[in-house]
Amino acid sequence: MDRLIAEFDRALRAIAGVAHAERPSPAEALPESSLGEESKAHAAALMRVNHVGEICAQALYQGQALTAREPQARQALEKAAREEQDHLAWSAERIRELGGRPSLLNPLWYAGSFAIGAAAGLLGDKWNFAFLAETERQVEEHLAGHLEALPPEDRRTRAVVEAMRSDEAQHRASALQLGAAELPEPVKRAMRLASRVMTTVAYRV
Ligand SMILES: [Fe+2]
Ligand SMILES: [Fe+2]
Repeated sequence: MDRLIAEFDRALRAIAGVAHAERPSPAEALPESSLGEESKAHAAALMRVNHVGEICAQALYQGQALTAREPQARQALEKAAREEQDHLAWSAERIRELGGRPSLLNPLWYAGSFAIGAAAGLLGDKWNFAFLAETERQVEEHLAGHLEALPPEDRRTRAVVEAMRSDEAQHRASALQLGAAELPEPVKRAMRLASRVMTTVAYRV
């Protein structure tokens, strides 16, 4: 019961955008650039997409931890979820600074990802980590794309995205170390398709 309440609390915090970062935002040390209205709106929308990605990461890892078999696997997933909280807080803060707003569909993104994560966990730890590793690989790729799409002069946003990308690479490496299997190609394709739907919708809503 306690665990259920804690999970529910975490879900609400993630959705409400009150995540607390343990590390300072990488944007903090950099000056704000004077962006035109259009660039600012574009950067805010890209950060909304990344924020949704982090909402999904929270939900996935919590779902995966819930159904993981070995205590060691559960601990690793809970640790990953905690580290992702920095990303969640940094991207929420950057959206605010850019004058944007988080996705209105966050409860939906959370619920869907939680269900997918729990399902992945039921397949056993090897596949659970396989799913984690592939998620991180795709997120890393996606963030690299954002570094190309973001206004070059927006150093604060870029610093956040760069730091997130390097964390995701580490998350992937640790999933592989924990014995991740390689997902079948059709599953990878389905994941890519799902994330394309998410990123397209979240850019607007
Ligand atoms: Fe992340
Ligand atoms: Fe990650």
